[in-house]
Amino acid sequence: MTTKKAAAKPAAPKGGKRKLSVTSLLTLAQLPAQDIELILDTAKDLKAKQKAGRPAPLLAGKTLAAIFEKSSTRTRVSFEVAMHQLGGVMYYLAGRDLQLGRGESIADTARVLSRYVDGITIRTDDHRKVVEMSKNATIPVINALTDYSHPCQILADLFTLKERFGKLKGLRVAYIGDGNNVARSLIFGAAKTGVQLVMSSPAEYAIDKQAVDFSDRDREKNHGELYFNPDPIRAAQGADAVYTDVWVSMGQEKEHALRLRAFKKYQINAKLMANAAPSAVFMHCLPAHRGEEVSEDVIDGPQSIVFDQAENRLHVQKAILALLMGDK
Ligand code: CP
Ligand code: NVA
Repeated sequence: MTTKKAAAKPAAPKGGKRKLSVTSLLTLAQLPAQDIELILDTAKDLKAKQKAGRPAPLLAGKTLAAIFEKSSTRTRVSFEVAMHQLGGVMYYLAGRDLQLGRGESIADTARVLSRYVDGITIRTDDHRKVVEMSKNATIPVINALTDYSHPCQILADLFTLKERFGKLKGLRVAYIGDGNNVARSLIFGAAKTGVQLVMSSPAEYAIDKQAVDFSDRDREKNHGELYFNPDPIRAAQGADAVYTDVWVSMGQEKEHALRLRAFKKYQINAKLMANAAPSAVFMHCLPAHRGEEVSEDVIDGPQSIVFDQAENRLHVQKAILALLMGDK
């Protein structure tokens, strides 16, 4: 008798309900391209319904525990409003107030929360904590930012780009700045959606080679492209979107002066934007530091879509929550 390896489960069974192939959202590297497509389609539908005054209570009676070990405005509020609009409830749990803050293990916290709630979202420093949480939880775990990645942000950004340009494949995005968590998720997200990405950072703050290697196969499969150009002006040339993030991320405050010096010529200002396509947009995950990574005239000018990005965090997270925590 010959044994055959079972075929991968299709994400969209014919005529049936489309489902995610993952049970948690830890990084975009681990999220198949068809799952990204499903999240973006679902977000579009939920956004339209919400705007039309027809909310979709897909998580009626469900609960989300939201652990925050770092500050947050957008992520915290958008998750809380998302749960409310879906008919559920979010419990905000400040890391320092939990027993986690006094040394209780992540594994025990995951096991206990799994007995009370239907999902966990966590913002923390070390990515391994999110992985440990998901290994020990029996419910979905969503990464709300780690030092390694910020998948919810980039999913909302891909949604925003698609909303603006009607497509993702072939769009040219220039990421100019720190090779940080946001940049890493952007590399993964671009590779999965066929976006052309140009990265521009000072050599000592460039994205790690491992992230690039991780995304190679996806990029090849989806006809994405990835270029590196340390010259920010040249990196911006012909871009449909110019994206930046802060030069000093949470937890790097001691490096403030050093980083400001290193990134000085990487500011997104009118002169730099003039090299991008005439219809180019400016993107930033926020919070922003006007006068550092972006000039005031650009972030507050007509090309800026930063508040669309912020709004779309809500719609995209509603999709993620509904797909992960909704009735299957
Ligand atoms: N972009 C983002 O994640 O913002 P917050 O830190 O305010 O959540
Ligand atoms: N890179 C930033 C993103 C904040 C949303 C940070 O980690 O602080």
